[in-house]
Amino acid sequence: MWSHPSLALSPIQGALAVFALFLFFSRVLASFLFTCTIKAPVVGHRKWFEPKSLVRFRFLTRGKDIISAGYRKYKNEKFIVRRNDADILVLSNRYLDEIRLLPRTVLSNVHAQFKNLKGEYTYVSVVLNGDLHTRVLRNQLTPQLGYYVERSSAEFDQAFWDDFPQAEDWTVVDIQAIARTVVARMTGAVFLGYPACRTEEWLRTSVQYPLDTFQTAFTMRMFPTFTHPLLALLLPSRYRVRKHMRKAREIIEPLIAEHQAKDKDGANEIDTLLAWMVDHASGTEADPAEMSSRQLILTLASIHTTAMALSHALFDLCAHPDHINPLREEIDEVAKAHNGVDFLHQGLPRLEKLDSFLAESQRFHPPVLMAPQRLAMKPITLRDGTHIPQGTRVAFAAYEVLMDPAVTSDPERFDGFRAYRRREQAGQLRRNFMVQSDKDHLAFGHGTQACPGRFFAAAELKIVLSRLLTEYDMRFVEGESRPKTFFLDENCFPDPAAKLVLRRR
Ligand code: HEM
Repeated sequence: MWSHPSLALSPIQGALAVFALFLFFSRVLASFLFTCTIKAPVVGHRKWFEPKSLVRFRFLTRGKDIISAGYRKYKNEKFIVRRNDADILVLSNRYLDEIRLLPRTVLSNVHAQFKNLKGEYTYVSVVLNGDLHTRVLRNQLTPQLGYYVERSSAEFDQAFWDDFPQAEDWTVVDIQAIARTVVARMTGAVFLGYPACRTEEWLRTSVQYPLDTFQTAFTMRMFPTFTHPLLALLLPSRYRVRKHMRKAREIIEPLIAEHQAKDKDGANEIDTLLAWMVDHASGTEADPAEMSSRQLILTLASIHTTAMALSHALFDLCAHPDHINPLREEIDEVAKAHNGVDFLHQGLPRLEKLDSFLAESQRFHPPVLMAPQRLAMKPITLRDGTHIPQGTRVAFAAYEVLMDPAVTSDPERFDGFRAYRRREQAGQLRRNFMVQSDKDHLAFGHGTQACPGRFFAAAELKIVLSRLLTEYDMRFVEGESRPKTFFLDENCFPDPAAKLVLRRR
């Protein structure tokens, strides 16, 4: 029988073709079932008759262009972007003054994140049961920042020798993997303490759990809701999430028991954030399984965000090496004036140029293009009459705002000291600028629900970068330039294959 060789599909190609067809038709069906009730222009359609399902697929890789087109046209109003799992209402940041103080019962970040993460399948419902994981950051970590930064820095001192190359020759390193491990250790040191924070098991769990949760959620978001119960049973990443959760319980439950035993003995000194959480839990928050899930939620929020910021900052230093000497001079000066632990307490806030550089690096390379994100828990009518129906996904175009010439002059130019110079000229060198949020600076969200871990994140970044700048020369691998940023919907991450070359000074 005649057959054209190029049409003969291998079993794998056949399975992929069936998968692609299933994906396409299930999305088309969902497009018919799903109707948008928000009144705002929709962006992203190439032609008015283009099916919604195609626009949703395009958002996957071209989300940046679609948000940018919407922002250019409607930056003072609102527009809708179509993502595979939802239509999202992108509001002008001028609405933020009104919206930023609305409580979670009206506009909720956790409910939006729960939906983004497909929480009913990825076991993150713990975030809806209580807010112990944000209370611990607001009420203990940030007010006692100096104490916890000392612990984190002590862990970095060890990680520096364990995880960075010590050879005097140029050495190619997988800097993103190193950044994840180092940040996981520094964060683990304050949450779980020694020795848990450094064990291979906890490091693997705390780095892999967020990746597998994200992979599960992301895959599910590509398929319509009615397929999810079946799909959930088929995803290997979801089984891995369960494995990480079991492992986390094995590690964390003995730590909880140990702390409770100390409480009984009267030796109840709180030395880790886990201990604080155990003592301040209410209702089901105290359940050991829930407590260990909550530790994992904290890894989800903290490790990859901070590790990516660190990698991006190093890539930006190599791409713009003229910043390196002024930064080294600042670090030397501050270290001379504040040595030892004083460097952590008094010195870090004085690293104004480094702070400015980090803010600029984050301006170009945020972890998400749209922040903050919220879910309308009830119908809302804003002062200008804009109506937001219950269940609407609301977001702000954080990246576009900072790339707007009305907010940042000459926005396409990387200028690591722009914030520093602006503040110096205005005679108002404010400390920790990178963590300040306002309606134009949304990298950490804004308002009452803004990132509660940002002060700690900034301190971690400054501790690591000040030492790396002092002790290493750095460059890209021969013949390579700044790694590309990849996009998946509104999420951004550096090319996972990108490496860096370091040499001890
Ligand atoms: C460079 C690093 C980081 C970035 C860019 C970042 C960014 C963000 C953003 C954009 C939000 C959403 C805020 C909103 O909806 O208004 C958020 C929330 C959150 N972040 Fe961060 N974050 C970082 C580091 C951290 C760290 C180190 C921790 C923990 C120590 C943390 C804990 C959290 C938590 C718990 C939430 C949820 C808050 C809530 O439910 O109210 N983040 N973060």
